[in-house]
Amino acid sequence: MPNIVIVGAQWGDEGKGKVIDIYAPRADYIVRYQGGNNAGHTVVIGKDSFILHLIPSGILHKGKICVIGNGVVVDPKALLEEIEMLESKGISVKGRLFLSEQAHIIFPYHRKLDEMKEERKGKIGTTKKGIGPCYADKCARVGIRVADLLDDDVLKEKLADTLNEKNALLKKIYDAEGFIFDALYREYTDYARRLREYTCNTVVILNEAIRKNKRILFEGAQGTLLDVDHGTYPFVTSSNATAGGASTGTGVGPTKIDKVIGIVKAYTTRVGEGPFPTEFPPELMEKIRKKGKEFGATTGRPRRCGWFDSIVVKHSVMVNGIDEIVVTKLDVLDDLESLKVCVGYRCEGRFFKNFPTNIRILEQCEPVYEELPGWQEDTTKVISYTKLPKYAKAYLRRIQTILDTKIVLISVGSDRKQTFSRE
Ligand code: GDP
Ligand code: IMO
Ligand code: MG
Repeated sequence: MPNIVIVGAQWGDEGKGKVIDIYAPRADYIVRYQGGNNAGHTVVIGKDSFILHLIPSGILHKGKICVIGNGVVVDPKALLEEIEMLESKGISVKGRLFLSEQAHIIFPYHRKLDEMKEERKGKIGTTKKGIGPCYADKCARVGIRVADLLDDDVLKEKLADTLNEKNALLKKIYDAEGFIFDALYREYTDYARRLREYTCNTVVILNEAIRKNKRILFEGAQGTLLDVDHGTYPFVTSSNATAGGASTGTGVGPTKIDKVIGIVKAYTTRVGEGPFPTEFPPELMEKIRKKGKEFGATTGRPRRCGWFDSIVVKHSVMVNGIDEIVVTKLDVLDDLESLKVCVGYRCEGRFFKNFPTNIRILEQCEPVYEELPGWQEDTTKVISYTKLPKYAKAYLRRIQTILDTKIVLISVGSDRKQTFSRE
């Protein structure tokens, strides 16, 4: 297996965790390249269910090396909790988890600012984990990185500097309490002490590994339509969730990446605010949400659900350079009499075959649907493509044709075993 990027092709929660778990045995390194603990990646192994927020899902496979790359924003408290959760379940991370010294650190003022902005300004519906404010500091060149955290003097100076500004902002703009330097400094030096053993120059580690023909699996978080450049801006996250982020977020050059696999839910979901042209009417929404257990893995919020939108996924195929597609959650559509697939948008007399870049236009777009017959059979026990109901195959074939991209794997349940290839 060459070096592969696994990327969410919709608005996140496509089942990336499950797919990473399936591809991990054929990789040597599994690497997160962007986002932070806003992500929630679920892996179900028999009766055990794991939700990973920061640590690559490959950690569940013995002996695999997991890397949190420079493009990730790291809440040290969340990371330590995740390490403890894994250790308590008998999964040792020592010696096989590496954290980039260049990754940026989330502080409580990032979380607070995230919260206050959500309350005061036009809502994005963020996870309130401090992701946006932390990336904002990174781009403003005032962020605190893992390497700074590890150096007491640097941390002291940078934290004092930045805290003055954050406290003033919290007080003056948001009428909120600030943070006390001493307490914060103590808390974070303790995190530094506990995380030090995991930190290193991950750029060198990954490039050395590639030189030795080791295989890297890049685990995307969020999804293409949440990408800060290619998504439904401003209703996006603050990082490059698209495949390009795998390069900038790890220091592995694009020439070293061999393949991009897009993860696509058989319908569409999104959490938070923002346009969603194929969103279901209330009754169908309830039905699919219940059947698909569509509640956020990080915040528990109900996910909005809708029909499969090929305009969204075609956009993803393009901006990620997707070579192959994995379709998940086909089983959730088992009961439906008929299915709709969005094949275009109509807005003020214009027909769109491409995803509109202007959010105002997108907000007014009406989806144009193609209707297909439902299969109305249980697919959760199907173990090969040939055994799928006729109309389920027809649905997948139609999607493949519209996207002009090969479907390689199909998932019909949350368990590892409920997966089969298209061949
Ligand atoms: P991620 O963020 O892309 O890793 O996805 P999440 O873990 O947030 O959400 C996907 C949810 O769907 C999880 O609860 C998975 O266990 C579940 N899941 C994954 N694949 C399937 C599938 O094929 N069928 C069903 N019914 N559930 C699935
Ligand atoms: P995984 O990796 C689904 C959404 C939030 C909100 C927007 C911005 O599990 O697919 P943020 O906290 O990032 O500033 O929120 O992005 N969002 C996700 N939606 N899956 C995720 O991750 C998400 N991570 C962030 O709901 O709309
Ligand atoms: Mg998720």
